[in-house]
Amino acid sequence: MIKKMKERHSIWIRIFHWTNMIAIIMLILTGFYIHAPQSFKLFSSMDTARTIHFAMAYVLTFGVIGRVYYAIVAKDAKNIVYRPIEDTKKLPSMLKYYLFLADDHPYYGKYNPGQKGMYTAWLVMAILMIITGFILYKPHLFLGLSGLLGGFLVVRIIHYAINWLFVITIMVHVYLDIAEGIPILKSMFTGKIPEDFHHGYHEES
Ligand code: HEM
Repeated sequence: MIKKMKERHSIWIRIFHWTNMIAIIMLILTGFYIHAPQSFKLFSSMDTARTIHFAMAYVLTFGVIGRVYYAIVAKDAKNIVYRPIEDTKKLPSMLKYYLFLADDHPYYGKYNPGQKGMYTAWLVMAILMIITGFILYKPHLFLGLSGLLGGFLVVRIIHYAINWLFVITIMVHVYLDIAEGIPILKSMFTGKIPEDFHHGYHEES
């Protein structure tokens, strides 16, 4: 039987998702090498790692600008931006479901409040990485900004700490995507999901 499919992710969402993902993974790998080349023997030289890091920095910068622009013009921001009052109220029912204390949860829209929180945090984290990264890249151009953040050492610590936040949250994201079901995973490649696919929610009465 051929399943009836509906659109879940537009082509632009998929393009930005995969380019930003590749950029962030490469930034993490090259970043670890730059941090400790003796321990992470992933690249042939510091030159190679730094060149890739800076090239990916531009990919991420344009990827973030493009995704924000898309969220505004395609009116997709409402799907992904966490609204502190409204979404926090929905957190308990979501947590009950994920802690196996409830069989289902209400329908939250395209993404649940946890996902919205994560995606909004990623935007803030990416912007902080771009700001601190460019300060480290061209320190003489951003002396004022560097001072405002507490100095060059603090900038370096922020850049390294958020790197770890990315590592941890990406692992959680991939685990939850797989746990949610293969159709969810496939939809980020094909854009489509079966019309009757329900992941844990009950219809509002
Ligand atoms: C998600 C994005 C990013 C991740 C995960 C990441 C990760 C890292 C890590 C782990 C380090 C080593 C830090 C240390 O040893 O203290 C590093 C260094 C650095 N990063 Fe990033 N980074 C990201 C984005 C950027 C961006 C957008 C730029 C902008 C140009 C940038 C520029 C730099 C520079 C200049 C260094 C120091 C390189 C050196 O000293 O040779 N990074 N990054």
